[in-house]
Amino acid sequence: SLEHAFASNVTKEDMGLNHLLQPQASFKVAILGAAGGIGQPLALLIKMSPLVSTLHLYDIANVKGVAADLSHCNTPSEVLDFTGTSELANSLKGVDVVVIPAGVPRKPGMTRDDLFNINANIVKSLMEAVADNCPGAFIHIISNPVNSTVPIAAEVLKQKGVYDPKKLFGVTTLDVVRANTFVAKKKNLRLIDVDVPVVGGHAGITILPLLSKTRPSINLSDEEVEELTFRIQNAGTEVVEAKAGAGSATLSMAYAAARFVESSLRALDGDGDVYECSYVQSDLTELPFFASRVKLGRKGVEALIHSDLQGLTEHEQKALEALKPELKASIEKGIAFVQKQA
Ligand code: NAD
Ligand code: LMR
Repeated sequence: SLEHAFASNVTKEDMGLNHLLQPQASFKVAILGAAGGIGQPLALLIKMSPLVSTLHLYDIANVKGVAADLSHCNTPSEVLDFTGTSELANSLKGVDVVVIPAGVPRKPGMTRDDLFNINANIVKSLMEAVADNCPGAFIHIISNPVNSTVPIAAEVLKQKGVYDPKKLFGVTTLDVVRANTFVAKKKNLRLIDVDVPVVGGHAGITILPLLSKTRPSINLSDEEVEELTFRIQNAGTEVVEAKAGAGSATLSMAYAAARFVESSLRALDGDGDVYECSYVQSDLTELPFFASRVKLGRKGVEALIHSDLQGLTEHEQKALEALKPELKASIEKGIAFVQKQA
C-alpha cells in the first residue's frame, strides 16, 4: 500500500542510518516558507531522504538559523539558505521539486477561505518566481486555501506561458494520512495496511474520503461512515482548536508533505509504481481541478485513477454532488483573482 511504501522507506531504512551516508540520487528540492511551522519539520524530513542532494530553504526571515542547524545532520544532502525576495530566484534555479507552505495559518473560528486575501498574494508572487526560474519542476502547493491557491498557481503559470498541468499539485496527502489513521484505529487494523482514497478538495465538505474503497476492504455501518467522514473533514479544525490560536497542523502536515515529496522523487527516479492522492487539473468531473489518486511518473501525473469515482455508494455519490458547488466557487475565485490583475 501507499502507507507501506512510505513507511518502509522512512522507518526500516532510516533506523539504520548507514544508507544515508551514501547518496542514491541527486535531486534538488526547494521549500518556500521554510522557516515556518510546516517548513522546519518538513526540511528535517527531506534532509533525511537518500534521494536528495541539495535542499534549498527560502523564507522572508529566520531561515539562516534553520539552515545552519539542519546542515549539521550527517545525511548526504547539502542545505542552502535564501532570505528575502532578492534571493528568491537563486533559491529556485535548477530545482526538481518546489514545495510551497508559505502563508498564514488559521486561528479558531476561521475557515481556510478566510486566509484567501493574504495567501493568494503570497502564492501568486512566489509562483511568478517559480515560472521564471524552474518552470519544469514539480510544484507542491500546501498554502491554504488549497482549493483556490492551486488554480491561482495554474493561472500564473499560464500567463507566463509555462503551465504544465501534469506538474502542478495541491498537497492533500494529509487527508489520506488522517483517513488511514482514523480508519485503522476504528477497525483495529495495522496502520501500515490501511489505504483510504480521499477525493474532491481540501476544505470541509470538499474533502471526500471514499471509505467504500478502503484497502483492505472493510465493513462500516452507516453511523461509522458518518462519524469517520465528519472526523476526516474536520481534522484540520480539530488541530486548530487544540492549538488555540497558535496555528494549525504542522507536524502531521510535514510528515504528509514529506511523503508526497518522497513519492515525487521516486517517480522522477523512474519507479513505475507510485500512486498518491493529489488536487490536480482533472477531467474526472466537470470541475477543472479535483483531487483523486494519480499515478506519478518522470513527467508528473501519468494518469488519473478514473475508477475511483466508479461504483460509489449512495452516501459517497450524494457527498460528491454536494461538494461540487463549493469547490467550483473556490476554483473560480482563484482564477478571477489572477485574471483581474492581468
Ligand atoms: P507559519 O506561519 O508557521 O509559517 C509560514 C511561513 O511562511 C513563515 O515562516 C513565513 O515567514 C513564511 N512566509 C510568509 N510570506 C512569505 C513569502 N512571501 N515568501 C516566503 N515565505 C513566506 O504557518 P504554517 O503552519 O507553516 O502553515 C503554512 C500554510 O500551510 C498555511 O496557509 C496553512 O493553512 C497551510 N496548511 C496546509 C495544509 C494542507 O493540508 N495543505 C496543512 C496544514 C497547513
Ligand atoms: C489542515 O487540514 O490541517 C490544514 O488545511 C490547516 C487547516 O487550516 O486546517
